[in-house]
Amino acid sequence: MPRIQVRPVDRLRIEGGKSLHGSVRVSGAKNAALPELAAALLTADEVRLDNVPDVRDVQTLVRLLSDLGARCERLGRHRWALSTPEVVNPEAPYELVRTMRASVLVLGPLVARCGRARVSLPGGCAIGARPIDRHLDGLAKLGAEIKLEHGYVEASATRLTGATVEFSDVTVTGTENLLMAASLARGTTVLKNAAQEPEVTDLAALLVRMGARIEGAGSPTITIEGVEALHAAEHRVIPDRIEAGTFLVAAAITGGKITLEDVEPAHLGAVIEQLRAVGLTIECGAGWIRIGNGRPLRAVDLATRPFPGFPTDLQAQYMVLMTQAGGACELDETIFENRFMHVPELRRMGASIGLAGSKAAIEGPTPLTGAEVTASDLRASVSLVLAGLAARGETLVHRVYHLDRGYEGVEEKLQALGARIERIR
Ligand code: EPU
Repeated sequence: MPRIQVRPVDRLRIEGGKSLHGSVRVSGAKNAALPELAAALLTADEVRLDNVPDVRDVQTLVRLLSDLGARCERLGRHRWALSTPEVVNPEAPYELVRTMRASVLVLGPLVARCGRARVSLPGGCAIGARPIDRHLDGLAKLGAEIKLEHGYVEASATRLTGATVEFSDVTVTGTENLLMAASLARGTTVLKNAAQEPEVTDLAALLVRMGARIEGAGSPTITIEGVEALHAAEHRVIPDRIEAGTFLVAAAITGGKITLEDVEPAHLGAVIEQLRAVGLTIECGAGWIRIGNGRPLRAVDLATRPFPGFPTDLQAQYMVLMTQAGGACELDETIFENRFMHVPELRRMGASIGLAGSKAAIEGPTPLTGAEVTASDLRASVSLVLAGLAARGETLVHRVYHLDRGYEGVEEKLQALGARIERIR
């Protein structure tokens, strides 16, 4: 079983005020790799994935899949081969789901493959209550019997049957769970108000390679004709659009000029548009994006939205950028109810940010000064790193393990662009 390395005491020390220059390769998307690793449970054959990011959430899921009976072989830093001749124990325990909510992605594949799943209910997390009722309603529509007992969801079905599932509101992993479950159901499933995120489309592409019959992925209506069995496939995970957006902000906030390589500009349409409105110069081509110096930065309002809108996973980073832009603006976080945990820390560094419900009001530009700060979740922690890059003096970011969940080698990548950042173990 792969060992998970947790280094809760790691900190990042950043000496701010250095502008970033050069090129950086974007890693594979964590939020595409996770459902794609889980999809390997749907077949006894081997599923090979390339461009899987080397991040802790992947290690956590691989550990869960191994416990379930998958053989997970690492062929290289970013290549995995998974095969599941048999599911030995269809249970995702509290201990793992608690550390990573995406563990819930095994629910759909397990019920579809072996007619049974027992998955701990995730409970709340740092960014909101995050229930999974839409996943469960959808699986119930496909004929699964759902029981909630002792903090666990127990789902069972002799064989799932295709149905029309209309999501009350968009859910990314809910759509993914249903896509996987419906691939092995008897008959046709239609998912309405489905998530259109590139990660959903990429999962559908893998499932099609495995023999699934799926049409409409990337649109709000997806149709799945269930098949009897899925088979071996190879797939390359799409680039991480959130990591890419984070580096664009890092360049913008330090007055730098960088080129992103191995990136898909079409996945960043709303982000590029927003950054251009702020005053940044952005050019793109096949597989690359270049961002140039855009000072002075202008304050521009923002509301987070499901894809193709501006992603909630870049809200905290954009907020840091707005602390350096001229004027006042408002950010409306419409996806999660509690995703402003970075705000008190940014205020301690000198930012002027008011909060009222789902909205944040930012006044800029305010000079930031380095401070000791503590990260509360993945995207909040990277926003503190960005603030440190823009600040005068030294910033020490605590609880870096949040960052390690989803960013591969962030300090090495930033160092290569000229940032003064180091990990203190
Ligand atoms: N929601 C419900 N009921 C449900 C499902 C969702 O009320 O059954 C609510 C959530 O509480 C939230 C909203 O609906 O307020 C949207 O949640 P969604 O289900 O779309 O989020 P998710 O699938 O749990 C994925 C990403 C998140 C990303 C969101 C939104 C993965 C593994 N996670 O979460 O990524 O923020 O979509 O785009 O794909 C991150 O990478 O830092 C991260 C949090």
